[in-house]
Amino acid sequence: MFTNRVLSGMRPTGSLHLGHYHGVLKNWVRLQHEYECFFFVADWHALTTHYDEPATIGRHVWDMVIDWLAAGVDPAQATLFIQSRVPEHAELHLLLSMIAPLGWLERVPTYKDQQEKLSDKDLATYGFLGYPLLQSADILIYRANRVPVGEDQVPHIEFTREIARRFNHVFGREPGFEQKAEGAVKKLGARRAKLYQQLRTRYLEAGDTQALASARALLLETQNLTLGDRERLFGYIEGGGKVILSEPQALLTGASKMPGLDGQKMSKSYDNTITLREDAESVNRKIRTMPTDPARIKRTDPGDPEKCPVWQLHLVYSDEQRRQWVQQGCRSAGIGCLECKQPVIDAVLEEQKPMRERAGIYVEDPTLVRNIIADGCEKARELAQETLRDVREVMGLNYS
Ligand code: TRP
Ligand code: SF4
Repeated sequence: MFTNRVLSGMRPTGSLHLGHYHGVLKNWVRLQHEYECFFFVADWHALTTHYDEPATIGRHVWDMVIDWLAAGVDPAQATLFIQSRVPEHAELHLLLSMIAPLGWLERVPTYKDQQEKLSDKDLATYGFLGYPLLQSADILIYRANRVPVGEDQVPHIEFTREIARRFNHVFGREPGFEQKAEGAVKKLGARRAKLYQQLRTRYLEAGDTQALASARALLLETQNLTLGDRERLFGYIEGGGKVILSEPQALLTGASKMPGLDGQKMSKSYDNTITLREDAESVNRKIRTMPTDPARIKRTDPGDPEKCPVWQLHLVYSDEQRRQWVQQGCRSAGIGCLECKQPVIDAVLEEQKPMRERAGIYVEDPTLVRNIIADGCEKARELAQETLRDVREVMGLNYS
């Protein structure tokens, strides 16, 4: 039940750029060696805000998967799939909607924020209001316990935890649960039973989450428990019934502030990006025409790297020695701006080289990508169906 499973999704809304690479993909690549990872294309999520551009979805989906593979996400390590090809997400979304309080959804910060930000779109829709719940279904259906996301998504993970808790509370009560749980406590043996009860009381009465964690750890290290008893005991710590849906945790990716070509955060909406597989000529041109410290009008004018977006890129790409060279050379007018930019150009091209190579294989043979996704979808569906079976059962749907 407590797996080490990571799940994350990304919307297919355009080519990925170096900001995605430094902020998200590098992290995925690292995680795939440490956890069982599931990464998916959130195409239904894209529709919640871009339902008026259906023609663009397909193209973006496949380009994005190629970008992931290019960045080093390895289909032998991680399961890659497309949300809409695992329709179980939709069924769980529907079933969760029965118990999702409207007020919770209306209070999710992105609801009002995005409506204001994307004011050219009509987002007074049912789908848009419900999108955090769709995200909850995405996560809960795999019983994923780690969800790498940026800061802005943390409220969605918190919301998902609350939905899981509510679900377990409403549907996790089997007849005679308390007695069965107390019976299971006895089977822990006197010493562990006492400790379990103490920790449970501390959590239930004082909300002590440390106690919750310790009680769970205690159960994890206890052998000889049946699966049923183990689940009851996990659920009983929190007062409720069996844990049917387990609560995930956000895995904060430590928001990378990858600077764009103008010194602002790199973002498609600022038109300041370098895409993952941008061709060398374009990379050259974009960096060579980047603005620099406006005080350096002539080559002989000294400058201040703090006022220059190129320096921000040196902070990402250059070692201490080169940074010294920039600081010195800029402030003394010892180097020119193009000279200063060259090592950044070289570093970006070097970084992109393996990505361009890997992508080339998939661009040339798109069936490889189709097959990777088909395999991933199949694997994802199997797990999703297991969870749904449990959910249908407790919701009274497996009648004959
Ligand atoms: N909502 C996320 C975003 O806009 C994408 C997403 C959808 C997601 N479902 C998810 C992320 C599940 C993590 C887990 O970026
Ligand atoms: Fe910017 Fe480098 Fe020119 Fe200084 S020398 S202004 S840091 S590009």
